[in-house]
Amino acid sequence: MIFTNLIQTNLRTHTFGKQVEYYNRLGSTNEEAWELIDENTATHGTLVITDHQFEGKGRGGKSWFMSPSKGLAMSLILLESIPVEKAGLIPLAAGAAAAKTLKNWGSSPTLKWPNDILLNGKKAGGILCESRLSGESIQSMVVGAGLNVNETGNDLPDEIKSTATSLSIETGHSHQRELVVAIFITFFEDYWEILQESPEEIIRDWTSFCGHLEKPVSFNFKGKNQSGIFKKINHKGEACIHIDGNERVFPSIILE
Ligand code: BTN
Repeated sequence: MIFTNLIQTNLRTHTFGKQVEYYNRLGSTNEEAWELIDENTATHGTLVITDHQFEGKGRGGKSWFMSPSKGLAMSLILLESIPVEKAGLIPLAAGAAAAKTLKNWGSSPTLKWPNDILLNGKKAGGILCESRLSGESIQSMVVGAGLNVNETGNDLPDEIKSTATSLSIETGHSHQRELVVAIFITFFEDYWEILQESPEEIIRDWTSFCGHLEKPVSFNFKGKNQSGIFKKINHKGEACIHIDGNERVFPSIILE
């Protein structure tokens, strides 16, 4: 059970999280968010959250595992139009907000481009942003966040046991999930506001958490395995990677 009133009393936001749609069980909070948008029942900043997500979607068509009553699966609905140029920074802002949230509890998170959230080198969370475009602007966006909070090693399926972790595993005690949600949404709304005026702050914060700056990275691009040195993210949030002495820009790849 997630207590939505506990989320709301801990929020320090103007609009994000003021409307909360809570479900005991749900296939995917991102899917539900799109249904609410299509039914016209969502407002800008609506939070969709469940205690048991059983068909979670990950990046690159993968599935996302959530441990019922231990992890967090939530989606924020953004309905204010935003130019495509700036929208590329939203997934990174969500990653930076998640990293800042976990840091709040004394852990040392790092980010893997674009927004894998790692603790001690293992995955503790991920972000899946989906958007609808009209001309040169994004008209609606769903920002889905999955965070491993109170899982023990036994709660993680065998396939991800060696590569995944949780806040509780890393800090040695459990955490109030509602507080984690409220802090994440508060940081994320800050970034949403910053995005309009000074997006470079988002780039700066994301970079401060990046765990592979100036380090070798490998990835698959258009069916070809590539490797290079990760240099930076540009003003659109794209990855700038040095390959054989040339800087190349990648809008969407999955780093190994
Ligand atoms: C990743 O692959 O790293 C992204 C994982 C994103 C998972 C979250 S959980 C809440 C939201 N609903 C979904 O179906 N997926 C996202």
